[in-house]
Amino acid sequence: ATSLKEVFKNDFLIGTAINTQQIEEKDTASDRLIKQQFNAVTPENIMKAEIIQPGWDKYNFDLADKLVAYAKKNNLKVNAHNLIWHSQLPSFMRHMQDADSVRKYFVNHINTVAAHYDGKVYSWDVVNEALNEDGTLRKSIFLQKLGDDYVVEAFRLAQKASPHSKLYYNDYNIEQPQKRAGAIALIKKIKAAGVRIDGVGIQGHWRYDKVPMKDIEESIKEFSTLGIEVMFTELDLSVLPNPWDNATADVSATAAGNAKMNPYANGLPDSVAQMQAKAYADLFQLFLKYKKSVSRVTFWGVNDGQSWLNGWPIRGRTNYPLLFDRNFQPKPAFYRVIATAKSV
Ligand code: G3I
Repeated sequence: ATSLKEVFKNDFLIGTAINTQQIEEKDTASDRLIKQQFNAVTPENIMKAEIIQPGWDKYNFDLADKLVAYAKKNNLKVNAHNLIWHSQLPSFMRHMQDADSVRKYFVNHINTVAAHYDGKVYSWDVVNEALNEDGTLRKSIFLQKLGDDYVVEAFRLAQKASPHSKLYYNDYNIEQPQKRAGAIALIKKIKAAGVRIDGVGIQGHWRYDKVPMKDIEESIKEFSTLGIEVMFTELDLSVLPNPWDNATADVSATAAGNAKMNPYANGLPDSVAQMQAKAYADLFQLFLKYKKSVSRVTFWGVNDGQSWLNGWPIRGRTNYPLLFDRNFQPKPAFYRVIATAKSV
């Protein structure tokens, strides 16, 4: 069978997000596709702080260790996701008031988790989503309690605890000019402190008809000028309307009874599948144009049925954002993406 990892093997890594059911090899159809198509994986949820550190002195590495073993067995590079993020924090952390305790959590979490996987994972998303849309630092518990330098400090600790892993900053919308400028300033600050940062991940959650191609191209150029890898780390192209673009949408409702916001519950029309395929092909043409700068492209899920976009920002919708359909069959987008590799 044609495979993504095969056709792009001289260009960039091809990854997917995975979850427990695939690691435990209970989901044989996913398992088969992962082995056939990908050479990199990112845990969609199981390395997040709330799962990996459920209590002050309690770490739960079981699932994540299984993932690392599964990846090793199947020649998949692991991008560990993530060390420091304001979301999905352990419950004991969420409303912590005292700065010393926040610092203690911050230092211990990075030291313990990064050290546990040193030499076992290829890379870490050290800090995830630290920026606001205007490029300033998000007012997270870390910014509030630890101050402006916490991002640099996170990289410094990770570098020491995990010297053999690559260290990345990961965020969404950082292809947008203002937020991109904030990311560039942050990366320069880390470097100026003499701390290692190896790459930047542009998440890539876009709508199929609104992919910001010019901003993406500009971002690849500007980020790679900093001497770091550029990656697309959570790629998916939603085909559903966004509630914020639609004044009459009821976001609190489930999709049932809200047909306008869930138009393809009975299947994706071929015309939309073709437009999505074109959008994916345009993106991959661009990635290939900059293959010296782009080191990895990771899809956020294996197939449409498993995507987080079926549940966000409205629950219970039927979305089709990936290259494989609910029956694990390649979609038009898959064939168009493969064709880009053959056209250059
Ligand atoms: O597994 C539990 C289940 O036991 C529980 O009953 C249920 C009730 O809420 O929750 C289940 O966990 C959910 C988990 O996904 C697994 O399905 C969480 O609630 C839900 O919040 C979580 O959503 C994830 C989200 O991050 C928040 O961590 C999505 O799957 C995941 O795709 C998404 O990924 C993020 C990246 O990490 C960072 N960038 C944005 C991206 C999309 O939001």
